[in-house]
Amino acid sequence: MLALMEAVLTSNPALTGYWYALARSVEVQNAPKSARLLGRDVVLWRGPTGEVIAAPDRCPHREAPLTLGVVNEGCLICPYHGWTFGADGRCVAVPSAGEGVPPPPRAHLDTYHATERYGLVWVCLGEPVAAIASIDQDDDPAFRRINTPVDVWKTSATRMTDNFLDVTHFPFVHTGTFGIAQDTQATRVELCELDDEFHGYRYQVTANNHSVGMLASGQDSAVVYRTMTSGFALPFTVRSTIAYDTGLQHILLLLSTPIDDVTSYFTFVVWRNDDFSQSAEEIIRFDLAIGAEDKLMLERVPGVLPLDQTTLVNVQADRCSVEWRRQLSALMMAT
Ligand code: FES
Ligand SMILES: [Fe+2]
Repeated sequence: MLALMEAVLTSNPALTGYWYALARSVEVQNAPKSARLLGRDVVLWRGPTGEVIAAPDRCPHREAPLTLGVVNEGCLICPYHGWTFGADGRCVAVPSAGEGVPPPPRAHLDTYHATERYGLVWVCLGEPVAAIASIDQDDDPAFRRINTPVDVWKTSATRMTDNFLDVTHFPFVHTGTFGIAQDTQATRVELCELDDEFHGYRYQVTANNHSVGMLASGQDSAVVYRTMTSGFALPFTVRSTIAYDTGLQHILLLLSTPIDDVTSYFTFVVWRNDDFSQSAEEIIRFDLAIGAEDKLMLERVPGVLPLDQTTLVNVQADRCSVEWRRQLSALMMAT
């Protein structure tokens, strides 16, 4: 129970069976890209056919960081003695071994599962036990997808997920964006299966609609009414949907990736069925400002989020977070 209270993510084997977003696809080009996932340093690069390869950032020869190397025609070349790694992390050249001598069998990199989806590079350190969340609108031509930078937050992925499932902080934390008009008395949270993948709740929000918010909502009234859902898929994926009276829909995939126990990547992907007249940069300015408000708050909260159900005090409005923590605890305790 002690480990669970401390929510040690990096040493929990159950978490290695899930996919995590580590970078935008455009960030992995002609050079190795470094990332860190669940306490492990990872190198990403594009192999001979453009596929993304993920491997430990450690050369099997003398442990040089491979992220300091170069990529040539899809092969990653170690900066120390030039050992060269190609498709599937196979060692294809050892300059010091002499002509015609094959690489030692253990020279090959023990690669991780890697794939691309929604403009992001995803990595699974172990054997995948669940697919990346499916967003139906990604295949719908009425919607456009907008990616945002991958940011580093000095907080745990658990605190982030808890925050993204919570609407009661809106009128306190999001006063600079949309939260001022919201009633601080939360409506009752009724949990449900939002679909096959996301468990959460539906609710209504009265949102402030000034300045850049008008671009996001497509309306010029002082306030707008949003019908929303928020739901989670284990371990740290949150999807929020927003529907306006005008028919505009807005789907956000909020992705928290544990770099280690107290540091995380955050990126979100937005799908919108607007008329595409505003630039993507303008559209996401509002969402980025909202994210900055959450980041400022969370980075002021010390330590990791206790996952047991006795340390924190909850009210009915926290029900979604309580259920998510119950399921995450069960997952982490199962191993
Ligand atoms: S440490 Fe990588 S080639 Fe020697
Ligand atoms: Fe928030």
